[in-house]
Amino acid sequence: MTVVHVDEERASTAEAGRRFPNDFLWGSATSSYQIEGAASVDGRGESIWDRFCARPGAITDGSSGEVACDHYHRFEEDIALMQRLNLNAYRFSIAWPRIFPQGRGKVNTLGLDFYDRLVDSLLAHGLRPLPTLYHWDLPQALEDQGGWPVRATAEAFADYAEVVAARLSDRVGNWMTLNEPFVVANHGYLTGEHAPGRSSLRDSLAASHHVLVAHGLAMERIRSVVRDANVGIVLNFTPVTPVGDSPAAIDRQQIVNDIENRWYVDPIGGHGYPPYTVDRLAWDRSEVRSGDMELIARPIDTLGVNFYSRKVVGALEGEQPDRRAETAMGWEIYPSAFGDLLRGLHKTHGFQRYLITENGAAMPDADRVDGRVIDNDRLEYIAAHLGQVHQAMEDGVPVEGYFAWSLLDNFEWAHGYGPKFGLIEVDMTTQRRMPKQSALWYAEVAKSGEIRPRLDA
Ligand code: FCB
Repeated sequence: MTVVHVDEERASTAEAGRRFPNDFLWGSATSSYQIEGAASVDGRGESIWDRFCARPGAITDGSSGEVACDHYHRFEEDIALMQRLNLNAYRFSIAWPRIFPQGRGKVNTLGLDFYDRLVDSLLAHGLRPLPTLYHWDLPQALEDQGGWPVRATAEAFADYAEVVAARLSDRVGNWMTLNEPFVVANHGYLTGEHAPGRSSLRDSLAASHHVLVAHGLAMERIRSVVRDANVGIVLNFTPVTPVGDSPAAIDRQQIVNDIENRWYVDPIGGHGYPPYTVDRLAWDRSEVRSGDMELIARPIDTLGVNFYSRKVVGALEGEQPDRRAETAMGWEIYPSAFGDLLRGLHKTHGFQRYLITENGAAMPDADRVDGRVIDNDRLEYIAAHLGQVHQAMEDGVPVEGYFAWSLLDNFEWAHGYGPKFGLIEVDMTTQRRMPKQSALWYAEVAKSGEIRPRLDA
């Protein structure tokens, strides 16, 4: 097997000089539960993550997002940092439980006020807001009524989407409905490693359909209140390569690929659920009502692509060949899969526009030199992946922006605060922010529109 190694000494230099268009969006991405904190401030309701984090053993370090990066109170400082990094866009998510503490019904205007202030401040600092309406923090009240396996959750989501869009529409034109529906359905309702921590294939399949219905309904409602809205969805992709060509390996490759890479984009692109795996899972599709597939396939304006790694699957679960490079998450570093993915998506679906809504790496603790955080491994990872994006654009894929995951070290879900994805280090005791070397380098890239060599090169 060939493994491309991100060569510590050469990778950023190898991609250096590639130039992006002048209007390219350079941003960073975050999500509400991972950074906001202020869990019980200004009337926020309980989310499934508050509840899940309290479950013994659910989070590796026993932590939660109760305080996180305290972004709710420090957003001005964080926006000033983004401006210092020459960024011109910011992807964040809106916490549904701040807007509807009970998931539906009475609107909490204090919650809306927060995002209003955030958006105003972003615009005042020259940053284009790109909100995502759902990044996994479902109001607990809705989970208590069945959660995503229940269709009413999708209907409540559409109401919530409309309320938020109506409030921000005079200043926000770009919207993303949901983040990574695969993770919502799979980790939340099948493996149980994410909130709400349930494990049922039946529920997971029902959830997978309802998140797509939620997307379709919300897209209609946003378009009804935002003139010329640009609406999309954020999907994650992990290209899958089989080990060998035994029938068992190919079967597993196809199932994993259908579930992780096709289950959402295919219906959105108008191709329906992947038939091979619908069959293999014996899904009776009883949740799919007449008109649903058309609703889901209404054209999106933008596809948000999250990419971190690829997956190699053998005939047996867990069978993995050796790798030459991986991140602190144990995710293989394999940049060329990113370029292939973008070209493949565009060839199959031909969406109008793509944004790279997440890409980045948790790396082992960085070295410190004279108080500076030297994280060349992260810098090399981003450089190599930006190179792939640039090449895909040269090959005709209309990518209009790149959002590094993440602006800040933050609460990495079930892993707690161990993995650090931030361009900016956050001292969780003092809340002190400190841009890492990768952030300073990324600032140069954003300013020049060009992949730069390492700062110290
Ligand atoms: C993605 C999530 C994001 C973050 C990164 C590392 O799946 O959307 O919140 O956890 O992974």
